[in-house]
Amino acid sequence: MVGLFKMINQYNDTEVEKIRESSLLVGKTLAEIAKHIKPGVKTIELDRIAEQFIRDHGATPEFKGYRGYQHALCISVNDVVIHGIPNEYELKDGDIVAVDCGVRKNGFVGDSAYTFAVGNVSEEAKHLMKTTRECLELGIAEAFAGNRVGDIGFAIQQHAEKNGYNIVREFCGHGVGRKLHEKPDVMNFGRRGDGKQLKNGTVIAIEPMVNQGVRNVTLDKDGWTVRTADRKLSAHYEHTIVARQGKAEVLSSFEEIEKILKQQ
Ligand code: MF3
Ligand code: CO
Repeated sequence: MVGLFKMINQYNDTEVEKIRESSLLVGKTLAEIAKHIKPGVKTIELDRIAEQFIRDHGATPEFKGYRGYQHALCISVNDVVIHGIPNEYELKDGDIVAVDCGVRKNGFVGDSAYTFAVGNVSEEAKHLMKTTRECLELGIAEAFAGNRVGDIGFAIQQHAEKNGYNIVREFCGHGVGRKLHEKPDVMNFGRRGDGKQLKNGTVIAIEPMVNQGVRNVTLDKDGWTVRTADRKLSAHYEHTIVARQGKAEVLSSFEEIEKILKQQ
């Protein structure tokens, strides 16, 4: 077929190791942010900490400058689904906050996101976060060579809807590696056996966005901030993975984040 850009990505082992290094740095950056997530902190302060941390580790914040975006992180509080812009808002007890980060190091990109609880959050919020996290794991379990992106979307959608939640349709996961966004699109809904087939070495970011209420979203006047149409909560987790024979290998990691959260 003419037009290489239409093809699904496939990275060799040397390249995958570089994507892993960037992805692990994202996990460390999110862990650094985890230390600072508490009532009273401004989301713009978290962004500054992340950018400094990324640069101190010989990398660059991949989101900064992407289509005119000005920050290292997307910080999405409560009804904000994704692409929340860091600002003067002070986190408060009971908020849930999704922090999304991408870095470039040695020419390769890693992308990952985690939703944090600020202080004590409601049981409803906890259940939404837990379910979204499970959606990510179930999606990853389908992301092996030979399987299709529809298998991933199906698994994610089934689990969210079984729990009474709804999947955002307007945004999706994506190939990642030399660029932040590559083919294929990785929808969080779909049908088994549909869509592009993953190869051994295909690297994708899987990122379910799960709403407590309706699946519809609105866009703020700033052109970035995506909110639930009913202003109920939304959660978002993301891992960068590489498809292998019979399994996916997760390149990013929540281990450093969860080490910090356990100490708190
Ligand atoms: N991680 C998100 C994504 O995969 C956010 C990138 S948007 C940006 O789409 F503009 F902030 F870079
Ligand atoms: Co992404």
